[in-house]
Amino acid sequence: MTIIPPLTIPTIFQPLIQAWVAWFTTTFVSLPISTFLVWWDVPRCMFGFLFKERPKVILITGADTNIGEKFALEYAQLGNTLGLLSSDKYKLDRLANECNKRGAQALSLHCDISNLELLRETVEEFINERPIDLLVANISQNDIIQDGETRWEDMFEQVIVTNINGIIGVIMSTYKRMQDKGKGQIAIVNPTASHFSIPQMIYHNMTKSALLSFSRDFRYLARRHNINVSIISPGLIDTPITTKALLPISNFRFFFASSNSLAFITKIQLQQGNFEITWPFLEMLPAYAYQTLPPRILNTITDFVGVISDFVAGIDGAWV
Ligand SMILES: NC(=O)c1ccc[n+]([C@@H]2O[C@H](COP(=O)([O-])OP(=O)(O)OC[C@H]3O[C@@H](n4cnc5c(N)ncnc54)[C@H](OP(=O)(O)O)[C@@H]3O)[C@@H](O)[C@H]2O)c1
Repeated sequence: MTIIPPLTIPTIFQPLIQAWVAWFTTTFVSLPISTFLVWWDVPRCMFGFLFKERPKVILITGADTNIGEKFALEYAQLGNTLGLLSSDKYKLDRLANECNKRGAQALSLHCDISNLELLRETVEEFINERPIDLLVANISQNDIIQDGETRWEDMFEQVIVTNINGIIGVIMSTYKRMQDKGKGQIAIVNPTASHFSIPQMIYHNMTKSALLSFSRDFRYLARRHNINVSIISPGLIDTPITTKALLPISNFRFFFASSNSLAFITKIQLQQGNFEITWPFLEMLPAYAYQTLPPRILNTITDFVGVISDFVAGIDGAWV
């Protein structure tokens, strides 16, 4: 029996209350805790960078091009063993040769990540022989296909299978082996768009938001096995994805960072054991700001950003 009726206020006043709650938590929770974290993070990062063991056996997925390729080259050095996994055998072999020339021992692991059985076999075959230190889980499909034929309504399976099943599949195969070993590090490449993005990338945004939530919980669960989980969160990176996408910002290339700089910064921050590695940082502050907005305002901004994107891309509706 309910004794006190649930407290509420009329719906029209709720956005205002939400805004005050956001202000209150920013002022009295976020700012004090962030200030404390700065003092905590300085010695933590220095300790990680100076004393943590450097990874020697590294598995990188989505390695054959752009961001994944630059990660592979960043870790390609004498004494390192690299497993490079992707679906394009020709590009993979070329990259493996380049890494070998730099002194690493690189193996090309040819596999379509949407085939979960094959993925498990390929990953386990690599890991069984070489106890893995670091996994960089970097595969992505997005729904921005503008070939005039593909409809975005039909793309959900391809995007979800690759971005969720494929990524979680590769992570879990690796995680179990790291548990046996009692240590390891897993880095999940997940764009800043997981916080907020244009509505035309509907399945991409949905899968990336899901991965963000997964990573947060997974970090907690993995820590008890001495396994460190990070998110590598690229912002505006100069690769074909951002040229093709016709995002409202795509023409302002001076805002974009190179994949090389992302790989360099990421390697340092992974060594420090940071959780969310965002690069470039400043340009992506709006994405974080959106997250703090009350739902009603966020919905309005989503409409506004959607209209601008349609207008800039010259496309009526989604990216088809
Ligand atoms: N570029 C940017 O500006 C930017 C910005 C923010 C975030 N990101 C994120 O960074 C990551 C990489 O971006 P990118 O620009 O390097 O992407 P990309 O050029 O599209 O590369 C994606 C990689 O995933 C592989 N891949 C896709 N589907 C696969 C499948 N079913 N099986 C095996 N491999 C598959 C591709 O290999 P194949 O060539 O063999 O298909 C390729 O190596 C993504 O998570 C993306 O969301 C990028």
